[in-house]
Amino acid sequence: MLTNPSQLILKNSDLFTNQNVLVLNCEGDLLPKQLLEIASCVTALSLDFHHHLVMSQHSSPNLALHFGHQLPNADQTFDSVIIYYPKAKALAGYLLNLAGQHLKVDGELIVVGENKGGVKSIVKQIPDYFDTPFKRDNARHCLLFTSQLTQKAPNIRLNDWVNSYQLDTPQGELTICNLVGVFSEKRLDEGTKLLLSHLPRLSGRVLDFGCGAGVIAAALLKAQPELEIECVDINAMALKSCELTLEANNFTAKVYPSDGLSQTQGRFDGIISNPPFHDGLKSTTDIAKTFVKESVQKLKNGGGWHIVANRHLPYSDTIAEFFGQVNVLAENNKYKIYSNKIKHN
Ligand SMILES: C[S@@+](CC[C@H](N)C(=O)[O-])C[C@H]1O[C@@H](n2cnc3c(N)ncnc32)[C@H](O)[C@@H]1O
Repeated sequence: MLTNPSQLILKNSDLFTNQNVLVLNCEGDLLPKQLLEIASCVTALSLDFHHHLVMSQHSSPNLALHFGHQLPNADQTFDSVIIYYPKAKALAGYLLNLAGQHLKVDGELIVVGENKGGVKSIVKQIPDYFDTPFKRDNARHCLLFTSQLTQKAPNIRLNDWVNSYQLDTPQGELTICNLVGVFSEKRLDEGTKLLLSHLPRLSGRVLDFGCGAGVIAAALLKAQPELEIECVDINAMALKSCELTLEANNFTAKVYPSDGLSQTQGRFDGIISNPPFHDGLKSTTDIAKTFVKESVQKLKNGGGWHIVANRHLPYSDTIAEFFGQVNVLAENNKYKIYSNKIKHN
């Protein structure tokens, strides 16, 4: 089943006849594979690990699939580049630069997105190495724009897309590096702030789930440099931000993609998180339930589970069901910190 933007791309598939095509910011469908019916080669870059997993078993000599914030080869060029207009508008500028970097001069850029998702902004956002975007099609509540690369575009310089700021935390001063579109881009989230004010002392192997720019991991390492921390996130820009934050503070931790806790190995002495609260499709109750259930399976006996969540999110019942009790360590008018230990029978 193709998403609406993908259906619009397919409707305009004459654009890709015998072309070497790059698809940026893929959605969770098999559009890149379907394009091969008309294109000669397709390369797909997913910034969302779940979207990458949906496609991953379909790779072939003519279909290269990557997950990350950029392609492994910065010099690879393509006849045409498709961008799915991102939910975070700030990310569009980054994707346009990436498209320019990988497009041959005179090559075609195709930008597609939901009408409501702000895709029209492309006309104002487009850098001057592209010509004025042309609205080529309009269907399925989506718009499709085309534009040509008129001159060689500069390669992405990651520094241009990072917002770095100093953060005073109860654990000490930290440098936070946040790439465009990553959670709490400009300042610390209020929920995370509450968690840092009540950061538990942990030991051994600790998972920072949904690490974002790595604020929680960095605060933990500031307080307890001996911890063995693993940071996971579904979002490539978040993972790169987390690496940059760790590097800026001279900390080391293992940083890798995971959809939920699925890609983590073995069990942890502690799990800490400001977990995701919406997913577009799944309800918040489902997300909370899955996260609690997976956490219990991934904790060693006696392991601690520390999360901050909006107080209206349905965590209590699920925690009671899986941990046998609900311990609220701190709360304010918006957030609660749940802090529980697991006893496996
Ligand atoms: C509320 S933010 C917290 C970010 C960071 N820990 C902080 O406190 O600033 C939740 C994070 O979870 C990530 N996320 C969303 N769905 C996920 C999933 N299924 N698996 C792993 N991470 C996910 C998001 O990309 C986001 O970075």
